[in-house]
Amino acid sequence: MVIALDGPAASGKGTLARLISTHYGFAHLDTGTLYRGVAWIVLSENADPAEVKVAADAARNFEIEKLANADIRTKEVGAAASVVAANPEVRAALLDFQRRFAKSPPNNTAGAVLDGRDIGTVVCPDATVKFFVTASPETRAHRRWLELVEGRSELEEAEIYKDLLERDARDAARDDAPMAAAADAELLDTTHLSIDAAFAAARRVIDGIVRHC
Ligand code: DC
Repeated sequence: MVIALDGPAASGKGTLARLISTHYGFAHLDTGTLYRGVAWIVLSENADPAEVKVAADAARNFEIEKLANADIRTKEVGAAASVVAANPEVRAALLDFQRRFAKSPPNNTAGAVLDGRDIGTVVCPDATVKFFVTASPETRAHRRWLELVEGRSELEEAEIYKDLLERDARDAARDDAPMAAAADAELLDTTHLSIDAAFAAARRVIDGIVRHC
């Protein structure tokens, strides 16, 4: 059983993925972590994330365990992640790990939940359930601002809004595995939904599909 959640930054897909994995006892992979990890390695080598070969080498040598002490949640790493994610060699190098996770989730769990941008379209086109989670850019910028203000209060919401739009545009416009809703994905717009309401809506879809399997 594989559950795919795709969508733009701060749409709520990560929180939903965590709640779903806990509720059903499935393993969870936040695939953005992989791209952030590659970006973090490139930045820590003082290299340019747009340098195709440097980013591809970082992706080929990438091991998720090495990220234990890496601060990958910063705005800079997010922006660089979106740049390395447009590099087809980076995407190819990370594909196997994601597919293996979906096929044989760790700890022999009965299922896997993967969230990202291309899970339903490229990584797991045969996923049991697919969601495309969205929210208005204003709502997403506000959520990200609320998350970031702790300790980083100098960040303006308007700046976060601009960064999100830039990242969305880059993630959706790239040639290789752009952010997109799979044709068979359930659209879940969380703009006016609390996390509890979004989670309840997701559970209804999953339970409905599982009953028909
Ligand atoms: O979800 P996130 O903000 O942690 O993702 C960081 C970047 O990684 C995002 O801008 C696009 C890229 N990404 C991707 O291209 N494909 C995925 N499956 C997940 C993330």
